[in-house]
Amino acid sequence: MAETILRAEHMFKEFGATKAVTDVTFELHRGTVLGLVGENGSGKSTLSSMIAGVYPPTKGSMTYKGKEYKPGSVLEARKAGIQYLTQEQGTIDGMTVAENMFLGEEDSFGRGGMVNMGRLVARAREILNENGLKHVDPTRNIDDYSFEDRKMIETARSLSKQPDILIIDETTTALSKKGVERIYEIIAEQKEKGTAVLIISHDLSEVQHLCDEVMILRDGVFIDLLKGDDINPDNMRRKMIGREFEGSYYRGDFECTYEDEVVLSAEGLTLDGVFYDISFELHRGEILGFGGLSDCGMHEVLKTVFGAIKPTRGSVTLKEGNVRLHSTSASVRRKIAYIPKDRDKESLFQPTSIKDNIVAASLDKIKKGIFISPRIERRTANEQAGIMEVKMQNVNQMAKDLSGGNKQKVVIAKWLANDSRIFIMDCPTRGIDVGVKAKIYRLMEDFKRRGISVLMVSEEMMELIGMADRIITMKDGRRTGEFIRSDSLSEADIIEKII
Ligand SMILES: Nc1ncnc2c1ncn2[C@@H]1O[C@H](COP(=O)(O)OP(=O)(O)O)[C@@H](O)[C@H]1O
Ligand SMILES: [Mg+2]
Repeated sequence: MAETILRAEHMFKEFGATKAVTDVTFELHRGTVLGLVGENGSGKSTLSSMIAGVYPPTKGSMTYKGKEYKPGSVLEARKAGIQYLTQEQGTIDGMTVAENMFLGEEDSFGRGGMVNMGRLVARAREILNENGLKHVDPTRNIDDYSFEDRKMIETARSLSKQPDILIIDETTTALSKKGVERIYEIIAEQKEKGTAVLIISHDLSEVQHLCDEVMILRDGVFIDLLKGDDINPDNMRRKMIGREFEGSYYRGDFECTYEDEVVLSAEGLTLDGVFYDISFELHRGEILGFGGLSDCGMHEVLKTVFGAIKPTRGSVTLKEGNVRLHSTSASVRRKIAYIPKDRDKESLFQPTSIKDNIVAASLDKIKKGIFISPRIERRTANEQAGIMEVKMQNVNQMAKDLSGGNKQKVVIAKWLANDSRIFIMDCPTRGIDVGVKAKIYRLMEDFKRRGISVLMVSEEMMELIGMADRIITMKDGRRTGEFIRSDSLSEADIIEKII
């Protein structure tokens, strides 16, 4: 193995009660690409942030180039030769390109507190040219450039002084095909130059092609270090998830399967300032996905379909009975379920029991005359909690004390109890551990078999590709494309339409 450049030992990071990273030890080697994979929330960004000087570990130590390493800030880590690229915008509004490129390093362009702007701009020009960014003017305001240009400017900056360690944290997710290819080129170049590269990505085939070694994290804990032929998507997924799945994690088929019958349609839905002219038809047994960035308007589209927001124009029609939907109570009566993105604020009556939460949408069904039968109530709650395998002491336990995944099970149980025929799901697996995630995916497959339809919004491209029959993409409040389920659909195809 090549020379060790950084060794991190027994690293821990806790945020309040959250154990983000627990006792992880690993090494980075010169000229070697280490992949870091794990489900969302498994601690990947936390671990790399500690190397990059974002915050110190709760416990643990690092040795860098043979010396103890305790970066006090990102700038300090950068000066020491450790560069960290993330998915988020890393440049600062309201400053020029050149100022952004040398933030905190202006001193090296002047004397006695005076910065020689001419030299700074000239050096910026040089670096931009070397990195295929000839079209960027270093004296212009950085706000004038697109997200992708800004990301590439940031990347160029990070390479302006030869780094010893380059960390790329899900950067490729946010870029176009061209940007992604440039990142791949950079990785190859840096490897050649002896840089240690740490790359975090959910694209497992990307990881397979780029990496010499792959470290797997699950719930903040080190699971395995893979090398050679062991680095393949199936193996990585299995280790990330922690157990074998029958068939696959997502849907096992790549057919677009649903019945011809339309169960719900939206026509010209518009909410001024948020989304415009959204039309679609949802079929029986279909999973229709909406993909986009968080602020593209898709979350509001789902709320509007459910009747929680009144559109400026347009309508939603439930085909059965040919009724217009315009209130949440009408939607619930018509067997439409809504699972909000923020389940703590919007869907659970936190101060009450699991039982009360589960029966909340189906009181009509368990009423006898004007009385609610406690016996039927309890039976319904137990039945649905059992189907959803809610981990609890009993149904009288307070819902607020459950973990995120189990809360989501209770929310779903509530709508199952109501015999819902259409499920509107806004990021149904957000912040949920992999076991519960897989359970929700199996449930969605079961919905399809039973002719139940799903309207789903997700910010995770793999989830959309993995589960939806059709995917409608949105950007800035408008529909930008539609994809049909296929095994050749890639994250890059969708990302092109949403950024
Ligand atoms: N600044 C923070 N404050 C509180 N909790 C955090 C913070 N950053 C991350 N976490 C939590 O730590 C865990 C690991 O998160 P993260 O390292 O971002 O995961 P990954 O990058 O693998 O998706 C998650 O449970 C996340 O919610
Ligand atoms: Mg992360």
